[in-house]
Amino acid sequence: MRRPIMAGNWKMYKTPVETRAFFDKFKPLVSSSKHCDIVICPPYVDLQSASDSCRGTAIEIGGQNMSWAKEGAYTGETSAEMLKSVGCRWVIVAHSERRQFFGETNETASKKLVAALEAGLTPIYCIGERIEERESGQTHAVLEMQCNGGTAPLTPEQFTKIVVAYEPCWAIGTGKVATPEIAADAHRYIREQIRKRFGADAASACRILYGGSVKPENIRGLMAQPEIDGALVGGASIDPSAFASIVNF
Ligand code: PGA
Repeated sequence: MRRPIMAGNWKMYKTPVETRAFFDKFKPLVSSSKHCDIVICPPYVDLQSASDSCRGTAIEIGGQNMSWAKEGAYTGETSAEMLKSVGCRWVIVAHSERRQFFGETNETASKKLVAALEAGLTPIYCIGERIEERESGQTHAVLEMQCNGGTAPLTPEQFTKIVVAYEPCWAIGTGKVATPEIAADAHRYIREQIRKRFGADAASACRILYGGSVKPENIRGLMAQPEIDGALVGGASIDPSAFASIVNF
């Protein structure tokens, strides 16, 4: 059995004060939720406030991105150790918005995965096709390339420590959730790529999250698919009661 993960990606929303207000409401709503890992990934400036708010709870904190470098002259970047120093245990790598707007590639993603693992962070590695790729029948080819490209330098042992998130770009922030069947089909395909590269045990142990317009209304249908091991939630994670309903599906 794979333990579910419900992860919230706040993107560029909330200040430290708003972060505290979120957790004041959110914590009591999930205090007895033991069936899944709960992760919140706020903007960098909110990480300290988020970790302070969650101390002593089961809620874990993650970054939304990180540098592949340990330190150095990299203006605007944040290292894995820096994330850890403010209480992060997780980090999102290669979110499609980073791929689309900030030049993230499978190659930079692979360097970040290695750096995160070396620092002891759990990376959530994001992959997913664009609408034109789906419509032209390239979904599987894209998933294969992103899956294998990003994880290329990892050993099977390292691979067991990462989480994969399947997020079709056409479903992110659009309100157009993938049907549970479309998502499950992609997850099966991704798991097959993992099996070919890292073996059957790694494939069956790997937690694959779905992301893209997950809401309290559609989480149950998605989680009814045995292939779907949790969700990476954007918009609906900003609201404490909506995200708590997703956690408590
Ligand atoms: P969304 O975002 O839930 O707002 O569609 C998901 C994500 O980008 O991780």
